[in-house]
Amino acid sequence: MGRFIGAIDQGTTSTRFILVDRAGDIRAVAQKEHAQICPRPGWVEHDAAEILANTRAVIEMALHKAGLTPADLAAVGVTNQRETSLIWDRATGAPLHNAIVWMDTRTQAAADRLAAEGRGDILRARTGLPPAAYFSALKIAWLLDAIPGARAKAERGDALAGTIDSWLIWNLAGRRHVTDATNASRTQLMNLATLDWDAELLALFGIPHACLPQIVSSSEVYGHCGAPLDGVPLAGALGDQHAALLGQACLAPGDVKNTYGTGCFLLMNTGATPHFSRAGLLTTLGYKLGAAKPVYALEGSIAIAGALVQWLRDNLGIIESSHEIEALAASVPDNGDVYFVPAFSGLYAPRWRGDARGIIAGLTRFANKGHIARAALEAAAYQTREVVAAMVADSGVPVAELKVDGGMAANDLLMQFQADLLDAPVVRPRHLETTALGAAFAAGLGVGYFRSAEEIAAHWRESRRFEPAMAAEDRTRFIAGWEKAVEKSLGWAV
Ligand code: G3P
Repeated sequence: MGRFIGAIDQGTTSTRFILVDRAGDIRAVAQKEHAQICPRPGWVEHDAAEILANTRAVIEMALHKAGLTPADLAAVGVTNQRETSLIWDRATGAPLHNAIVWMDTRTQAAADRLAAEGRGDILRARTGLPPAAYFSALKIAWLLDAIPGARAKAERGDALAGTIDSWLIWNLAGRRHVTDATNASRTQLMNLATLDWDAELLALFGIPHACLPQIVSSSEVYGHCGAPLDGVPLAGALGDQHAALLGQACLAPGDVKNTYGTGCFLLMNTGATPHFSRAGLLTTLGYKLGAAKPVYALEGSIAIAGALVQWLRDNLGIIESSHEIEALAASVPDNGDVYFVPAFSGLYAPRWRGDARGIIAGLTRFANKGHIARAALEAAAYQTREVVAAMVADSGVPVAELKVDGGMAANDLLMQFQADLLDAPVVRPRHLETTALGAAFAAGLGVGYFRSAEEIAAHWRESRRFEPAMAAEDRTRFIAGWEKAVEKSLGWAV
């Protein structure tokens, strides 16, 4: 058996490949960004062919960096941006349209219609998800309607629909059309109790069963790869937030992690039974490792976190590279009364307001780009605080500490502010690549390279702890300012 496990982390803005050893240490990483295609306000697309080419490229780059060949790998896993959906031609393998990205709002009117027709209850009860533009079902339905001939092809099984895990597995490992149960749980078409497609929901969304992948576990051999991973078993797949739950060793009910990526996603392991939220959180599948019983999770999803830093770089040009944000934000002692509500795709958890749009509030002649940078960073912390409050309300379990990961978790200023706002410690592990690690663990378990999830937990190590240090009256004042700004962002898009 090879000495390493590979993990493809196909995220919203970039694709990474990491190589992990038996001790859970990272041997090499390669990364490539892909284009964000925004044809209209609120629309966001990806070119699935570019994503596939980048995936192959980063695999080659990382193997080369580490001086390894596919024969050195025992298995490879996939983790991916979730909900992003596409349709491709079974015979040619060509995508029939750009993929519609999870944060795209083109299906908002259809989501509002579902809510107005009173479908919210059945959707929440069967899938754990409210009517929203975020999930795959409405995106796939939009594609079937918009692409000439797609619906007839899909009904014959000649066009295949899927999320990015399906697209990559189909292309890399022998054209098998599968999706793992965590990704399927984000489509709004899978019944959380049976972990199978729900016939009534397929009818409600008008999606033919014949175009959908088979739902499989997060950890088993799906097939063997062709180039550039010749012969390596593809043996693990999870949506990225579910992979991070595993990578952060959140294996016991009540364990919580927060990943600061493009968006920000806080998940709590709730054990063997789904827990339905009354406070605006999602119920989702945590993971399903091979034949073991499924583990469920509660999730608070925030659409825009790191994406806001990227937006400051690409759309405003006030920084040249993302890591400059910390120094710019630290150039001012506090937010100068400026608040940035990044409701670019509406507001997700716990408010679920598709009608919200981004605003910068509290500007005076005093404000400078340092305050804007600081407000942009702090937005991730304010939104996380709201999600934590919802999590505590739903579970009745106080969040004693928050395990963090993802690119923005490297930002000390943000992590300290997060601890201050939560009035609870924030704990950063030694590896921030927990998403990719989770996929590597699932793949390793799938081929017997790792023996148990507990062995994975033994590899988790804390690297830094941020203790809360803010005076209570400052916290109250900041939170009140944020809430006032959020009120202003609501109802903007009608
Ligand atoms: O639900 C969307 C989420 O999976 C995107 O994750 O890491 O690309 O922000 P990320």
